[in-house]
Amino acid sequence: MIEREKVEEIKRQTDIVAVVGQYVQLKKMGRNYRGLCPFHSEKNPSFYVSPEKGIFYCFGCKKGGNAINFLMEYEKLDFPDAVKRLAKNLGIEIDTTKGLRYKELYEVNEQACQFYAKCLNEAIGRRGKDYLTRRKLSIDKIKSFRLGYAPASGGLVTYLRQKGFSIDRLRQAGLISTSREIFRDRLIFPILNMSGRIIGFGGRGIDDYIQPKYLNSPETAIFKKGECLYGLYQSKDQVRAKGEVLLVEGYFDLLSVYQHGFDNICAPLGTSLTEQQAMLLSRFAKKVFILFDGDLSGIKAALRAIGLLINAQVDVHVASLPEDSDPDNFINQNGADALRELLGGAVDFFHFYKRVVKTDTLEQEIALIKDLIQIIAKIQDPIRYDRYLKYVARVFGIETEVLQKEITQKVKEPMKVSRNIKISQEEKLMAMILNGWEHFSLVKKHLHPDDFKEGGVKRLFKKLEKEDGFDVANLSELVEENLREKLLSIVMREDPVSKESLIEAIMTHKGRVQKDRLMKKISDAVERGDEAARQQYYKELDTLKRQLLKIGVEKATNIEI
Ligand code: GTP
Ligand code: MN
Repeated sequence: MIEREKVEEIKRQTDIVAVVGQYVQLKKMGRNYRGLCPFHSEKNPSFYVSPEKGIFYCFGCKKGGNAINFLMEYEKLDFPDAVKRLAKNLGIEIDTTKGLRYKELYEVNEQACQFYAKCLNEAIGRRGKDYLTRRKLSIDKIKSFRLGYAPASGGLVTYLRQKGFSIDRLRQAGLISTSREIFRDRLIFPILNMSGRIIGFGGRGIDDYIQPKYLNSPETAIFKKGECLYGLYQSKDQVRAKGEVLLVEGYFDLLSVYQHGFDNICAPLGTSLTEQQAMLLSRFAKKVFILFDGDLSGIKAALRAIGLLINAQVDVHVASLPEDSDPDNFINQNGADALRELLGGAVDFFHFYKRVVKTDTLEQEIALIKDLIQIIAKIQDPIRYDRYLKYVARVFGIETEVLQKEITQKVKEPMKVSRNIKISQEEKLMAMILNGWEHFSLVKKHLHPDDFKEGGVKRLFKKLEKEDGFDVANLSELVEENLREKLLSIVMREDPVSKESLIEAIMTHKGRVQKDRLMKKISDAVERGDEAARQQYYKELDTLKRQLLKIGVEKATNIEI
């Protein structure tokens, strides 16, 4: 593990605005910065960064935390890797290799990858090699994809056991189910995360007898299918440099096209594109060329992907392959130039929709227009938005104003900010305490954990009492998810609190707690018929009320407490 002080030092020195600003366009809004949330798709910015507090928070999807949490979420990094990244920016040296939470899972996958690659190169992998040849893949040109072969006779378990991994670990990594190896007689496609670590595998059956044709590792602690894109790690530099990316459907499509020199390419993992994948892609390229199979299911998948990609604010073009063709066999039959030409003729999403969606009847045409409007309404760039709106107006012979009205009435993004989160009085006080952290010694003097009734708040207060040098950015490590969201949302919204208003809030709270206790005692006394006690407690209640009043007066006359 990295020493705590070092992490603290890194956090202190890191400018969160600079870190987040590398990925999100931020605009200054008062004391905070605001931008479009990189974690969910939205048209109106609800993502805030506070430089003073060192935190970010999205009022839409409720993700929030410090600069480390941001990198973990955004770059899909482990805690130590995220810390390391920040440290590197600051020129601080740390060794994190020992601290990886999922280190063993990455390691076992890495070893499995080496096993499969070794098999492909040896006699046992003959079938794999032959298959690659048949499919015209040149292992040399696609080295960075680290393909392998899983022998029909297995062998992975023995190999990994010899390397010292337990059966449990293999199971956690999704390599075996019960104790049987998952991949047998399959060509293996290792799946890499954006740090280049192997998180899972895809496997294609060598023979048609093997069902299903493709098989992916099950989801594990480090492998979430919907969150990664095959090939993006290998192609990311090219994608960034070109600002454009080709999106294909399958492993073979990707590798065939890649080896012909199209090195800015990626693919979802055998399922239709997800929102997270679209968001991920949008971080690397502002223009996507969809190159899906020419059949009906390819067209359907493209229509679906368009919406998600537009939501992620990328410019979408679609290249259409012949109906019976996919990118893999297209490029093998026709060559790279033919594909280049096809991409040159790619149409934008508008024309693609218009071409593929049948509109024989008026109703179908209206449905198409409404679909298009749904998509266009999400475009953030005002120039593109305007251009497309005018397109639709012209093509369908509708007044732009009519379309505009339809958009403002029906499709405007509902405010995702939930206004009806219930925040209790104790949570509000806790948020004030966090916001006025520099006065905590004072807070400690006046408040006791037992002054809180709510479990979550009480537990947090206990932890805070033990901490020194807390900053609000550490919140994520101290409290449970639900409370953290609420507290972050208040902390982000409000200005730092003064000592006076903090004291006032504490005293009011304490007063309320004491009042509740006295009321309880009074009702108990009444029940017992203990008149003397009842009178005594009433007297105390009176004194308490006067004290509370005095606090109000002291505050008003600005007396130092
Ligand atoms: P080849 O037949 O090897 O050329 O594959 P393909 O890519 O042409 O196949 P297809 O268009 O049917 O599938 C595209 C992608 O969907 C594949 O690369 C896989 O990622 C995924 N896929 C296809 N079939 C299956 C399946 O049976 N199970 C799973 N999990 N994924 C599949
Ligand atoms: Mn194919």
